[in-house]
Amino acid sequence: MVIRIAAVGDVHLDQDVVGRFRPALEQLPDVADVLLLAGDLTRHGTESEARCVATEFGNLGVPVVAVLGNHDHHCDEVPAVIRVLEDAGIQVLEGTNVVLDCFGTRLGIAGAKGFGGGFAGRCASAFGEPEMKAFVGTTSAIADQLGEALREMECDLRVALTHYAPVPDTLAGEPLEIYPFLGSYLLGQAIDSAPTDLALHGHAHAGSERGTTPGGVRVRNVAHPVIKQAYSVFHLHPRRAGASAGKVSASSAPGRS
Ligand SMILES: [Fe+2]
Ligand SMILES: [Fe+2]
Repeated sequence: MVIRIAAVGDVHLDQDVVGRFRPALEQLPDVADVLLLAGDLTRHGTESEARCVATEFGNLGVPVVAVLGNHDHHCDEVPAVIRVLEDAGIQVLEGTNVVLDCFGTRLGIAGAKGFGGGFAGRCASAFGEPEMKAFVGTTSAIADQLGEALREMECDLRVALTHYAPVPDTLAGEPLEIYPFLGSYLLGQAIDSAPTDLALHGHAHAGSERGTTPGGVRVRNVAHPVIKQAYSVFHLHPRRAGASAGKVSASSAPGRS
């Protein structure tokens, strides 16, 4: 059984964007078993923008699972944004997980927004001022939650969903100076702490699509400006007994947004 995972991030919806993705989304049940949204669903994180997300991504005929992004936090309306999304049937993860039954295959998805800090050899550390300790401590706490959410799932396929990047590979194309604000190696460590089959993220609009964690987990940046289509679809093959990892066999999408 192949599980088909559609994913996109950074759709940044507001009134003027509603309807852009819908034609491709109408085909979703034919090409995917689940849709994952990798954050920055809204432009400024308002309740009214969340209603646009609900209109665009509600009632698709497949389960929709999301994490929020930094834009979705901007107006401090996160509880209202989550309520609107969940009322539309979009499950929002933050250091939590969900296991979906896909035709008898247990698809586990653990999600968290993530945060910044940078990557090995070029990263912030929890040293000095309390503000710096708080910054790094925030990322560390989120990464710990993500790792636990990944490890505790009993499933046949395990996917990590974040907004911030877990590796620098998928930031290629972004200015080096902003890498510490685009992701953290701590997220990569969390992903590697479980037998994760695929890691999806957004946030890096000018980044690139493909990367790998130090532990060998495939990472894909599904930010809409990167994939340039309504969603990408990944085909995952559940691991066989004794196999080291599930296999990601394809990435394609039927629709342009
Ligand atoms: Fe974004
Ligand atoms: Fe972002």
